[in-house]
Amino acid sequence: MFHRILLLLAFIVPLFAQDGGQLFTLHCSACHALDGKGATGGAFPPLAGSPWVAGDADRAVKIALKGLTGPVEVSGKAYNLEMPPQGAVIPDDQLAAILTFVRSSWGNNASPVTADFVKTIRASVEDRKTPWTAEEILKLHPLPLERTPLTNLISQVYRGKWDAFPDFSTLKPDSAEERHNGIISLADSPIKNEFAMTWKGSFEAPATGEYTFVLDVDDAAVIRMDGKPFLQIDGSGPMNGSRLKKAKIQLTQGPHPFSVDYLEVGGNQGLAIGWKGPGIKSWKWLTDAPAMGSAIPSNSIPIEPTGGRPAIYRNFIAGTTPRAICFGFPGGLNLAYSADNLAPELIWTGKFMDGGLHWTDRGMGNQVPPAGDDVISLSKSRTLPAIARFRGYKLDPEGNPIFSVQIGEQFLLDSWRADSGTLVRKLTVTVAPLEIQIPQAEGITIDGTGGKTTLTLTPGQTITLTYRWN
Ligand code: HEC
Repeated sequence: MFHRILLLLAFIVPLFAQDGGQLFTLHCSACHALDGKGATGGAFPPLAGSPWVAGDADRAVKIALKGLTGPVEVSGKAYNLEMPPQGAVIPDDQLAAILTFVRSSWGNNASPVTADFVKTIRASVEDRKTPWTAEEILKLHPLPLERTPLTNLISQVYRGKWDAFPDFSTLKPDSAEERHNGIISLADSPIKNEFAMTWKGSFEAPATGEYTFVLDVDDAAVIRMDGKPFLQIDGSGPMNGSRLKKAKIQLTQGPHPFSVDYLEVGGNQGLAIGWKGPGIKSWKWLTDAPAMGSAIPSNSIPIEPTGGRPAIYRNFIAGTTPRAICFGFPGGLNLAYSADNLAPELIWTGKFMDGGLHWTDRGMGNQVPPAGDDVISLSKSRTLPAIARFRGYKLDPEGNPIFSVQIGEQFLLDSWRADSGTLVRKLTVTVAPLEIQIPQAEGITIDGTGGKTTLTLTPGQTITLTYRWN
């Protein structure tokens, strides 16, 4: 009898519960598609496999309630759209059912969401009138780390102090642990000083082709692929990019024996290992820290030009002085101008900057490298007379910068814009002739210098220089 009642309940209860799948079809599928891959062939962001809906549910609940606007990266692809708030039309229990469905469908595997949880979050964001930006949401709820292509990963910790790599196979580890998420993390060591760690597993190369690996470490590490060491930093020193190394390696699709040995010689600790492969343009990290950072996970927030106008970014940028002003021009050309050295210092192609590294704890106070490729250093020091002062920049009607430097009585105006794959620089001076250095750099050609590295500007005359990547 008792069993019959239970059986009966098992049929009736689901009838009363909300059907998350149907509600998803009604409220979300127009934009995110029935298969969760994003409507109109991926023009809208996916929910299938999206880290935004994984991990703690706070992030997804807040986005569903209030919407999301502006640049956002989902599974390596950038979007810059607007999702209208859904909170007003979907009650707590229905939203809970939708998110429970989303978090457990199409390969997603995260815990259910309760109506009470949605209710609590709704109350906490009641006063909010506008959609979130990705930056705001990530500050509150960083993304969970993506799993890496490392499988069967085992970490081992050794107590002791070494100046050079010992043969770990002859030593007995203090502890050994499986790392199912494939993430290499020094935080996994129970010993915090004077220790060594090793990781062994398989790197599952997603495709056949050329791979690039990057290593930065405090203090020493060696990476082996297919049993051979191919990237190594010895000795001791900080992890700030100054000792960073890269290596290319040819891999066939499929598993390759992979191992990392790490030594903590003294002082601080850090380990960053990244990779790029066929069709993968931006660094993916095997470690919980990226290069140039501390130990907190990264959340990518690409900053890109919008509406045909350059994007502007001011922050600590690796490879230039503290007061750098960066412009990301439409078409993927970028400039970092140093307000300390009164000169353009870096130019690069491709992605502009990744704000995630600055806007999360990981990047606080750290220098972040340009997000793109082919970074070219034009100069590193000051060449104008000591009395020269930075007087800010103005934007022309298209949003392109005109940097202004005062030298005594006169002004030097240095304007930049992108044109058909080149950066065009115009220089003028207001009162008297001025000598200015135009350093050449490997990887680019500068048209308009007549092959000279020092040019004399005369008032009333504009010199136009065109920077072209070779
Ligand atoms: C009118 C179209 C539209 C509807 C309806 C819509 N979304 Fe979105 N959603 C978007 C867009 C566009 C973005 C990206 C916004 C941006 O670029 O900043 C987005 C982003 C998201 C994100 C974060 C990024 C990602 O892909 O994981 C989540 C989570 C999300 N939506 C969940 C939902 C849920 C759940 C529903 C239904 C309750 C829903 N959305 C309904 C258009 C929509």
